[in-house]
Amino acid sequence: MVHRSRRRSLTVVIPVLVAMSGCQPGAPRKPPAQAERPPAAAPGAAAADISHGEAAVGPAGVPAPIAAEAPPSAPGHLKHLRLEISHAPITIDQGVTYDAWTFGGGVPGPALRATVGDTVDFTLVNKAPMPHSMDFHAAEIAPSRYYVNVNPGDSIHYRFVPRVPGVFMYHCGTAPVAAHIANGMYGALVVDPVVPRPKAHEFVLVQSEFYLSPEDSSHRTRSLDWPKVLDQAPDYVVFNGRSAQYAKHPISVPVGELIRIYVVNAGPNRISSFHVVGGIFERVFLDATTSSPLTGVQTVMVPVGGGAIFETRLREAGTYPFVTHAFADATKGAIGMFEAGKP
Ligand code: CU
Ligand code: CU
Repeated sequence: MVHRSRRRSLTVVIPVLVAMSGCQPGAPRKPPAQAERPPAAAPGAAAADISHGEAAVGPAGVPAPIAAEAPPSAPGHLKHLRLEISHAPITIDQGVTYDAWTFGGGVPGPALRATVGDTVDFTLVNKAPMPHSMDFHAAEIAPSRYYVNVNPGDSIHYRFVPRVPGVFMYHCGTAPVAAHIANGMYGALVVDPVVPRPKAHEFVLVQSEFYLSPEDSSHRTRSLDWPKVLDQAPDYVVFNGRSAQYAKHPISVPVGELIRIYVVNAGPNRISSFHVVGGIFERVFLDATTSSPLTGVQTVMVPVGGGAIFETRLREAGTYPFVTHAFADATKGAIGMFEAGKP
């Protein structure tokens, strides 16, 4: 049943990161020198002249760089998933590129889908210059056997049967995990119940953070600032890997029809308080809750490493922001728009 081809290496990753960041992961840190920063007022002008206008709203109908639509489920009960790890530059904001560590060349990794009882046949190929690994929150298997480091040029192959419906995070579990997640190694796996959910317009949103090294003239692409990770002080908080992309390119939905949003919070540090402005969630399913969802709720927390399924309807034509209602994080990019009633 299980075939593995890999070498274990637990020793290489940490020295690489120490050299990269100049900071010992796990070492105590001094608090940031708050007193050195002069006091500053909040900006007086808003980016957009609508409620919750933290970001300029672009034209409806122009697709965002990363599609938010949930993928369809592939036919059959044997789901072959193959992911390649690579280090690649990504764009996280206009004019801001970042040296990311990726599943499949982008951040987040591809949205995956299976049904309870399917066999997921998974292959991970490491084309990056350092060890990485894969941890599926949807799987119930021994991390000591499967969530092990895969060396550069090597691969691992294993199978699991998702038993619990929901939307689940997957991520690299190589230490220090905060660095591997902050660099982009995460995604969402939707596990459908055997009896399908009602038909809806479905989207996948993965919230996450970026912690940027200073820009310098020799290297314009930013990389990880490890002390900022430890201080939980991200420069960006985003949905699907790019700042405010669904405000600049709103997601078109029909008025009054059921919308289902699969939200995963990859973190690595900030809790999501997911909210749709102008909407109330008919139902919210926390992980495996299928029979008794939360009903009639305004904001629901998605913990770091957690997922939840949100269902709502937008009752009249117009623009509806979706945010984490922790508004410092919305200001840092975790905001998007649904455009109801436009083609
Ligand atoms: Cu990794
Ligand atoms: Cu995890």
